[in-house]
Amino acid sequence: MTDYLNTHSQHTKTCGELRAKDADSSKEVTLCGWVGHRRDHGGLIFVDLRDRTGITQIVFDPDVCSPESFAAGERMRPEWVLCVKGYVRQRPEGTANPDMVTGEVELMVQAVEILNSAETPPFAIQDGIETDELARLQWRYLDFRRPEVLASLKLRSEVTAALHAAFNKREFLQVETPILGRSTPEGARDFLVPSRLSTGKFYALPQSPQLYKQLLMVGGVERYYQIARCFRDEDLRADRQPEFTQLDVEMSFVSEDDVLGLMEDVMAETLAAVGIAVEMHPEQQGTRVPVETGVLSAVSFPLPRMSYAESMSRFGNDRPDIRFGLELQDLSELVAGCGFKVFAGAVESGGVVKAINAKGAGDLSRGEIDKLGEVAAIHGAKGMAWIAFTSAGEAKSPIIKFLGEELLEAIKAALDVAPGDLVVFGADSFEIVSAALSAVRLALAEVLGIERNGHSLCWVVDFPMFSYDDDAKRFVANHHPFTRITDKDLDKLDTDPAACGSYSYDLIMNGYELGGGTLRNHSREQQLRVLETMGFSIEEAQEQFGFLLDALSYGAPPHGGIALGLDRLIMLLGGFDSIRDVIAFPKTSSGGDPLTGAPASVETRQLRDLGIKLS
Ligand code: AMO
Ligand code: AMP
Repeated sequence: MTDYLNTHSQHTKTCGELRAKDADSSKEVTLCGWVGHRRDHGGLIFVDLRDRTGITQIVFDPDVCSPESFAAGERMRPEWVLCVKGYVRQRPEGTANPDMVTGEVELMVQAVEILNSAETPPFAIQDGIETDELARLQWRYLDFRRPEVLASLKLRSEVTAALHAAFNKREFLQVETPILGRSTPEGARDFLVPSRLSTGKFYALPQSPQLYKQLLMVGGVERYYQIARCFRDEDLRADRQPEFTQLDVEMSFVSEDDVLGLMEDVMAETLAAVGIAVEMHPEQQGTRVPVETGVLSAVSFPLPRMSYAESMSRFGNDRPDIRFGLELQDLSELVAGCGFKVFAGAVESGGVVKAINAKGAGDLSRGEIDKLGEVAAIHGAKGMAWIAFTSAGEAKSPIIKFLGEELLEAIKAALDVAPGDLVVFGADSFEIVSAALSAVRLALAEVLGIERNGHSLCWVVDFPMFSYDDDAKRFVANHHPFTRITDKDLDKLDTDPAACGSYSYDLIMNGYELGGGTLRNHSREQQLRVLETMGFSIEEAQEQFGFLLDALSYGAPPHGGIALGLDRLIMLLGGFDSIRDVIAFPKTSSGGDPLTGAPASVETRQLRDLGIKLS
């Protein structure tokens, strides 16, 4: 890369590449970069000159060339932009800096051109600074000058390049789909763009290229991919932005295994491209590798798979971090009819009682246990019963008195309890217990300091097609309405939609939903039946999705695909806490861009052209 940087540019070397072997007083070297730290010492001026490749110390001898004299006497300051010519010399005995890769040498400046001066930056241009994120985003261009921020852009560029290479090699066509389109329902709110030429009508920015990629399949493209910008007007979190990027994929004439197999090959190549250890086990191809918990030294392919039902049962959610255990265990049968009202009542009213045995947490303080209870409460639990088995052999708990000796022993046996364990319980509907205990599980991993280094990927598959939305009083699609119901469940579509499975899969990485996809309805009839089950009349379906339904009636091939969240992938690969760290110009949690001030007011004339009046 550095060689290329040195062609077609003013400099002959970059600031990161000079080494002892380059020391040669007869060779002229030109560097360009920004002024970093400056030290005046023994009549000489030492300056750290920085570019995107690193830092080189440059030395001004005022008798030869002084930076000051070129700027009307103004003292050279940080972030000035220089082009310096000089020769490289080995640093004098005892002054080498072993912490810098260029630390053995320095450039003796013989001529300097000041390309630009600079105001004092609002924060220090160096790694590891404690700066308010708002300031970093407001002066994002200065933030990029910090090596750790630049590294995230480099990582993103490398991952994207690896993905392009993987898909090109497999003869996928890269197709760009429109940004100004028609609303595609992925469950979030649309961003709308008013049309000037058709006053009163709106484009919607794509929530994903879903319908376009299906139309491409009808058109015989057969293998499509795109690194696609998507827009969703939803509440923002650390792993959500209103504008984000998907690696979007669609294939024709494929089974679910084909899509998963392809994505595994692509992931293995991408991980390897950024230096993450992978292990291939072709002999396991075609078997369903079970999900085991624990930290792995290498990501092993094929990836393990479990059903949605198994994931909910073992981990309480459908995107579990499987780098540690602390699995949920069902005690409903054991505690049914017991003397503790909370447990017996939950089972009696059709709910469940589940527990986590947190090995090694038996000596947590009362305060720490109460904090776990608060986590459960945030997620809807009415309480979090617990029994602490201290390493001294005591059992402490507010509920033992209600359980009785016999049930206590049975619970201990069922959960394989030993001294030093903490058992926490959830008793409520399956949904509430799952939500509460899956959150407590993560909180336990945090308090216990459980090691979660390395990367862990797995598939969660076989999602139910629908769930019932109590507020809207209708069935909604778990993935989206274009998903195909498993053949064996088709006969239940009219009688028991909740029991219909689907050809669907999510890729989970380190406890995040990295991506999701499905096989699609390629039969117009079947697509209509799904929409009808979701409460669409034929007219409504035709009005909203007529173009898709029409396309399906012209010989649509069986097809399916997937989309990965590219921002999430890069966040996880780089070990960042937020996708904001891997997006060049992200939005804040209120959806604004502090740098440009977007969103902003517009002129009345612009609104008039669009036929819009603000109320
Ligand atoms: P889905 O809605 O699951 O599927 O999106 C796929 C992946 O995109 C990422 N993602 C986001 N990343 C950042 N910010 C957001 N607001 C955001 N929303 C989603 C997630 C998610 O797993 N068309 C289907 C895919 C298909 O069926 O082929 C779709 O968009 O990582
Ligand atoms: P109570 O009888 O409400 O005082 O509760 C006794 C214990 O059971 C307390 O430790 C509560 O936190 C716990 N508890 C109450 N409701 C639930 C519930 N739904 N699930 C689990 N534990 C609960």
